[in-house]
Amino acid sequence: MNYCVVGLQWGDEGKGKVVDILAEHSDIVVRYGGGANAGHTVVVGDSRFALHLLPSGSVRPDTGCVIANGVVVDPDVLIQEIDTLAEKSISLDGRLLISENAHIVLDYHKQEDRLREESLAKNKLGTTIRGIGPCYADKVGRSYTVRMGDFRNLETLKSKLRTIVEYKNKIFKALYNAEPMDADEIFEKCKVYAGRLLPFTTDTTEFLHKSIAGGKSLLFEGAQGSLLDLDHGTFPFVTSSNSSSLGMSAGCGVPAKFVDKFIGVIKAYTTRVGAGPFPAEQDNETGQYIRDKGNEYGTTTGRPRRCGWFDAVAVLYSITIGGIDEVAMMHLDTLSGLEELKICRAYKIYGQETTFFPANEARLSQAGCVYETMPGWSEDLTEANNFEDLPVNAQNYVRRIEELIGKPITFVGVGPKRSQTIFRQ
Ligand code: GDP
Ligand code: IMO
Ligand code: MG
Repeated sequence: MNYCVVGLQWGDEGKGKVVDILAEHSDIVVRYGGGANAGHTVVVGDSRFALHLLPSGSVRPDTGCVIANGVVVDPDVLIQEIDTLAEKSISLDGRLLISENAHIVLDYHKQEDRLREESLAKNKLGTTIRGIGPCYADKVGRSYTVRMGDFRNLETLKSKLRTIVEYKNKIFKALYNAEPMDADEIFEKCKVYAGRLLPFTTDTTEFLHKSIAGGKSLLFEGAQGSLLDLDHGTFPFVTSSNSSSLGMSAGCGVPAKFVDKFIGVIKAYTTRVGAGPFPAEQDNETGQYIRDKGNEYGTTTGRPRRCGWFDAVAVLYSITIGGIDEVAMMHLDTLSGLEELKICRAYKIYGQETTFFPANEARLSQAGCVYETMPGWSEDLTEANNFEDLPVNAQNYVRRIEELIGKPITFVGVGPKRSQTIFRQ
C-alpha cells in the first residue's frame, strides 16, 4: 500500500506523528514539498525530534528517506538534522536520497524573506523567514537558481553565484538600502554543503519508480496544510508551494494514481501561525486554554499559535480538493476540561449561509461562523487505548465531526507519543 499524508488545516496538525506511525509498515518515506518552514514532531520514548527537512520516517533506522524535487533544501538545516540523528546513533547513510533537481535555499533567500517582511510591517504575511517564498520565486523565474545537482560542478557554481549575488545585491540596495552579500563567502559554504550532501544526491524520480515497480510501499509526507496551498489556500496568506495533496505528483514525479490512500490530518480544534483570515479563531480565554494545554507554540519559530474551534467548513474543503479518503484526528486530549465545545458547521457571508469554504480572501474575511455546541468532558484522555474507553461526550464529538466532514476518522490522538493513538475500524 502507498499512502499520502497531508494536513487539512493551516499546518501543525500532527503530520509528523502520523507519518512516524505509518512508517512502521512503509519501505520509503518521501518529502515532496515545502522546506525548513515545516516542523514535524516525532516523539519516540523519551526522545523528541523536531524535523524540518528529513522525512519523519528518518527516526526509524531501516526506513528509506527521500527528499524529492519539490522540496526547497536549506543545506545548513539538513546537515544539522543529519548530525543530530547521528548523535542519537541514527545513521542516514545509504538510506537518504536527495533529488538532484531540488532547489537550494541560500543566505540571500533568507535575507530577502526577512527584508520583505520587515518592510511590509503591519501588512506582513508572518512567514517563517526561512527563505521559502524567495527560493520558490527564483525557481519559477528560472534565471537565478541553484539546485542540488549544481554542487557537482563547483567551478560553474562559483561563477553562477557571482551573477546571482550581484543581481540580489542590486535589489537589496535599491529596495531596502541593505548591506551587500558576499558571493565568495556563500560559495565557500556551498563547498562544504557539496561535500556533505552530494553522497546522497541522485535522480529520485527514477528511484521512486523503480521502487514502485519492485513492489515497495511508499509513504508520501506532506508539509504545511491544505489551507496554506499556494493555489487553493487562503492566498496571499499561504506558503509558496502546493501544500495540499495536489502538490504530491509534481513534487516527486509520481502520479496520484499510485497512491492507495490519501490520509488527512486534523486537530480536534484549529490553529494557525502567521497572518490571514481564521473565522473560528478564539482570541480569548478559550484560545489561551487550548494554547496552554496543547502546547501550541511553533515547532520551527516558537511563535504562539492562534487557536480556535474546529472548523468543519475548512476541513471539508481540504478533503474535497485533496481527494482525501480518511482522516486522523490529533489532540483530542487537549480539549478535556472545556465545559462546552463549539464546531463551526457553516459560514454566513453577507447574510448567506454556505458550507463551501471560500478560499478567496475578500469573501473569507467576511465569513462569520455558524456554530453548533456540544457538551465537553473533564476526564483525562491520555491513557485511553480504545475508542470505547473515551467519555461518551468525546466519542460523540468525534462522531459528529465525522458526519460533518463525510469521511471516517480512523486514528484519534490522545497525546504526543506513538502509543497515545487510538486506531478505529
Ligand atoms: P506537524 O507539523 O503537522 O508535524 O505538527 P507539529 O509537530 O508542528 O505540531 C504538533 C504538535 O502536537 C507536536 O508537538 C506533537 O508532538 C503534538 N501532538 C501530536 N499529536 C498529539 C496528540 O494527539 N495530543 C497531544 N497532546 N499532542 C500531540
Ligand atoms: P508544518 O509542515 C504551520 C505558514 C507561516 C506563514 C505562511 C507562509 O510544520 O505544518 P512561509 O515561511 O512558508 O513563507 O510562511 O505559512 N507556515 C506554516 N504554518 N506549519 C507549517 O509547516 C508552516 N509552514 C509555513 O506561518 O503564515
Ligand atoms: Mg509543524
